[in-house]
Amino acid sequence: MPLSPIREITDVEVEPLEPCLPIETRAAGMLNGHDLNFAGVETQHATHSIHPYVAAINPPLAASLISHYVPEGEVMLDPFCGGGGVLIEAILQGRQAIGCDINPLAVLMSQAKTTHLPSSRTLHTYRAIEDEAEKLARRISIDDVPELVRFWYRDDSLPPLRALQTVVCRIEDEAQRRLFQTVLSATARDVMLTYRGEIRLRKMQGADLERFHPNVFAAFRKRALSAIKSVGELPPESRADVFALDCRKLTKRQSCHTVITSPPYGDDKNGVGYFQFSRNMLFWIGVSLEEQKHQREAFLGCGVDARERSVSSETLRLTLAVIRERKMAHHREAVNFYLDYLDGLKQIASVAQERVIIVIGDRVLSRTRINNGHITTDFMRELGWGLEHYYTRQLLKKRIANLGGDGGGISLEHVMVFRRP
Ligand SMILES: C[S@@+](CC[C@H](N)C(=O)[O-])C[C@H]1O[C@@H](n2cnc3c(N)ncnc32)[C@H](O)[C@@H]1O
Repeated sequence: MPLSPIREITDVEVEPLEPCLPIETRAAGMLNGHDLNFAGVETQHATHSIHPYVAAINPPLAASLISHYVPEGEVMLDPFCGGGGVLIEAILQGRQAIGCDINPLAVLMSQAKTTHLPSSRTLHTYRAIEDEAEKLARRISIDDVPELVRFWYRDDSLPPLRALQTVVCRIEDEAQRRLFQTVLSATARDVMLTYRGEIRLRKMQGADLERFHPNVFAAFRKRALSAIKSVGELPPESRADVFALDCRKLTKRQSCHTVITSPPYGDDKNGVGYFQFSRNMLFWIGVSLEEQKHQREAFLGCGVDARERSVSSETLRLTLAVIRERKMAHHREAVNFYLDYLDGLKQIASVAQERVIIVIGDRVLSRTRINNGHITTDFMRELGWGLEHYYTRQLLKKRIANLGGDGGGISLEHVMVFRRP
């Protein structure tokens, strides 16, 4: 089914963003002499391709920001670490990295992608998994796979997935277990009856469905061998500290020199549906649907309704007024999201000693463009931080769906460097 085009989007008029502190780099879109659009630059090096994640940061962008703003030996934090893109680039440059996310799939893959494991050990484990799971698949029961999960798979994919799940979760060595669970969850996406390159799950139809006959063990093997090679090539001492945490609960224990992060652009319902994207993959790594529901509540904007609080951001106030006229439910969801986002930024700013660097795109809700760059800058100024540098970049191929109607597509990213006063 073709996605509907976005029509009649309202742009709320705002003043252009100007850094308020003396700046070294004025050319929007250039950093260290690099064009931040990174057209044609390789993005799937090192461990980035072990597992896809939605709305992943552009790795060369993360690498440029780290080398320019985080001195060697310093600690860098990504409090919305997602698929681990920033953390990987940090360890490749010998920085200490800390990451957190509320999505257990994001935490798992970020850990796996930043942990060096010698290939001889992991290859040995892989052979044992393959051998045992192939035997087990012939007799395993799939009765307890929920209907909601089964719907997305061919019947003959379920026994091999169940067998791999059972064998992988028995691996004693924690680092190896995480690696193979990551590989299994990526495999579970490869064999899912969903269209690729889309963020919200949409089941294959007609001839597409007829033609799709994935082989679970072959898909797992391909992913496992490539993952084994890439984690084997990470710097041997490399490791990032990654944990499941709501960024609003960061403490001094997560203090860092600089934060580099790409926050969600909107709530999980109207923006990128991280939990819908992750649902089946989470199931195969042992997170029940009930647990997922609970974890999703910590997603910015998804918890209890915010109590009325005035918003200091002029851009946000003007934007919310337009949305309110169009749809009350969207207005309430946007208020919830931005108040949670402000709470998140407050906590993030409290643990950063030097800088907070935010990479974010705009979005569309109720046919109204929401300028996340301006809103973030207003929020950070409210917290006392000045905008030191401001860059923009064109999005050539970001994994953000054009969700049609209200979700909107994005073509520009704001890169904002805030400095502690
Ligand atoms: C834009 S993605 C980050 C992408 C990441 N930079 C990458 O390269 O993959 C935003 C992330 O924020 C996470 N998130 C949402 N609410 C959160 C919260 N309250 N605390 C921590 N993480 C949260 C989502 O689970 C999602 O993984």
